[in-house]
Amino acid sequence: MELPFEDLSIKEKIIELTQKLHHHNHLYYVESNPEISDFEFDTLLKELQELENLYPQYADENSPTKRVGGDITKKFEVVEHIYPMMSLSNSYSKEEIADWETRIKKLIVDEPEYVCELKYDGVAIGIKYKNGKFNQAVTRGDGSKGEDISANVKTIKTIPLVLRGNYPEDFEIRGEIFYPLKAFQDLNNQRQEAGEELFANPRNTASGTLKMQDSAIVAQRGLDCFLYGIYGNNLPFQNHFESVKAAGEWGLKIPSLKKNYIKKCASIDGIMEFINYWDTERNNLPFEIDGVVIKVNNYNQQAELGFTAKSPRWAVAYKFKAERVRTILETITYQVGRTGAITPVANLKPVLLAGTTVKRASLHNADQIEKLDIRINDEVFVEKGGEIIPKIVGVVISKRTSNSEPLEYITKCPECETPLVRKEGEAHHYCPNQLACPPQVKGKMIHFISRKAMDIEGLGEETIEQLFEAGLIKTIPDLYELTSEQLLPLERMAQKSVDNLLKGLEQSKNVPFERVLFALGIRFVGETVAKKLAKEFKNIEGLQKATFEELIAVDEIGDRIAESLVAYFSDENSLVLLKRLIEKGLQFEVIEVENNNLSDKLEGKAFVISGVFEKHSRDDYKKMIEENGGKNVSSVSSKTNYLLAGDNMGPSKKVKAEKLGITIISEDEFLEMIS
Ligand code: IVH
Repeated sequence: MELPFEDLSIKEKIIELTQKLHHHNHLYYVESNPEISDFEFDTLLKELQELENLYPQYADENSPTKRVGGDITKKFEVVEHIYPMMSLSNSYSKEEIADWETRIKKLIVDEPEYVCELKYDGVAIGIKYKNGKFNQAVTRGDGSKGEDISANVKTIKTIPLVLRGNYPEDFEIRGEIFYPLKAFQDLNNQRQEAGEELFANPRNTASGTLKMQDSAIVAQRGLDCFLYGIYGNNLPFQNHFESVKAAGEWGLKIPSLKKNYIKKCASIDGIMEFINYWDTERNNLPFEIDGVVIKVNNYNQQAELGFTAKSPRWAVAYKFKAERVRTILETITYQVGRTGAITPVANLKPVLLAGTTVKRASLHNADQIEKLDIRINDEVFVEKGGEIIPKIVGVVISKRTSNSEPLEYITKCPECETPLVRKEGEAHHYCPNQLACPPQVKGKMIHFISRKAMDIEGLGEETIEQLFEAGLIKTIPDLYELTSEQLLPLERMAQKSVDNLLKGLEQSKNVPFERVLFALGIRFVGETVAKKLAKEFKNIEGLQKATFEELIAVDEIGDRIAESLVAYFSDENSLVLLKRLIEKGLQFEVIEVENNNLSDKLEGKAFVISGVFEKHSRDDYKKMIEENGGKNVSSVSSKTNYLLAGDNMGPSKKVKAEKLGITIISEDEFLEMIS
């Protein structure tokens, strides 16, 4: 094995890149004020990653490359908290808050000042910084011991890995990690696309995400964090507000003063104003809060007030009531999704809740209905809590009439009458009639034509509905048998749109295998899984023949996906559908570039490509190398023949190539070689 050679200029380069990236990370994520483009940032990050791969001895454990995750934690170490992680005493009424204020005033000498903050609805975290560097992140656990989830927390972009300015040598900062609503919605959209069960609420999902073993998945999830309390010896502050502001100066993300997320108040009137403001405004926040927190600002007064066994006397939480209204459950309808999953939906007598009229509420599944013992015509409580869709949380039993009967869950599909099935351990009932149940067929077709799947120009959701209703398409392959004669008589179908549609279908025959595989809509086979499978098995026959064991042997393919694939390929109907699509000429194998060789001018030559090019993209050059018989390799070694160098080439590659005497060529020289 080749050993990387020592070079202090490389070490300096790594330090310089690291500092630059920390700086731009802060501007982008904490200040929302970037100075360079995403592309420039990614180029710098990639350069640093390449150097760190070659010279791991110079890589910092808090390097910005840690943001993309990759560290696996098999078991989270249990760590004792230096300062116990207490909870707050909760109040549910303004009277209780007023009582608290009167009480504490009697316990201290001087008139107190307060800091009001939002109570973020997420997962508490304690992060230690030593000499300005991220040291360890620990969960709350039982309050005296928590789990070390550092690898996962390091992937949260708003948490700095190195601090700036005049920070204390050794301190801990506490805060709340949460799932921003937009990121949560995006995640659920992706899951829906892959036919996976949706996550119920942002808080539990944040908590589950932080306990994942693979930090690379955590990195993709878009968690965020607000920090609200500093702990340490000899901290240079007199009060809480000052300490939060200082934390902002060290580069930590603190609640926005401008947006009123945190505010100093001189009296109970100011506290009430803050509570009232957020009681309505909370519906417009991009994250969830479940109340506000009121803290005595002055540290000496905090010390005077001290703690009870569980919580500080100097702080209190005002919890918002989850907005709850009563209404009548009129009917229950059952929706059938693309994968056949049945979701019961409650149709309610319209009622105003948190500023919007609610007519429907999710009932999730049969277990939920049974648990609530909900019946038609019941008066029910509807709440808008953590969940995005309102939910029924209870029944007013006293209002129930004596003739009411328990609800019987449907046994047949509401759309096609096929008896429903429910697999052991699964929450949902399913309609197994994948090939003829209308919403499933339509849903599958809509998925098939969607942008990330076959991306068929001239064909959208509405047209699918129209073609389906007109009886022109019953299964996916029917799309490829459509003719102008069939289409022209339809409403909104002029010659031009018909031509476009047919052309779009024809062109879709060039869509690569991995996307065709995704487009088939096999349960649990999302975009990434489809890519993996295509790469591994190369063609549909290979995939079809693969046994459960062979499937799970593939990296990232688990039992659930493997079972789903085996079931798909053992269904006669899937085989008929595949046969027809193959006959239509869709891509069912990976096109290996070697088969497409234009020449063998580069036969046996290994190329490394680095930098940015003017005439063609890097991917184009990679393709050209393969088309002319050459081979692309990612790192420079003694086996490399050429380094194709563009602008801003990674310095490590150049140094190494020169040292090994490898020919460095420009793009013009390369184009000359293959001309
Ligand atoms: S201060 C001694 N401030 O609420 C506890 N907590 O039950 C000091 N929380 O575990 C906590 N937002 O996770 C504080 N602005 C805020 C908060 C906050 C959310 C959470 C925190 C704590 C729980 C209290």
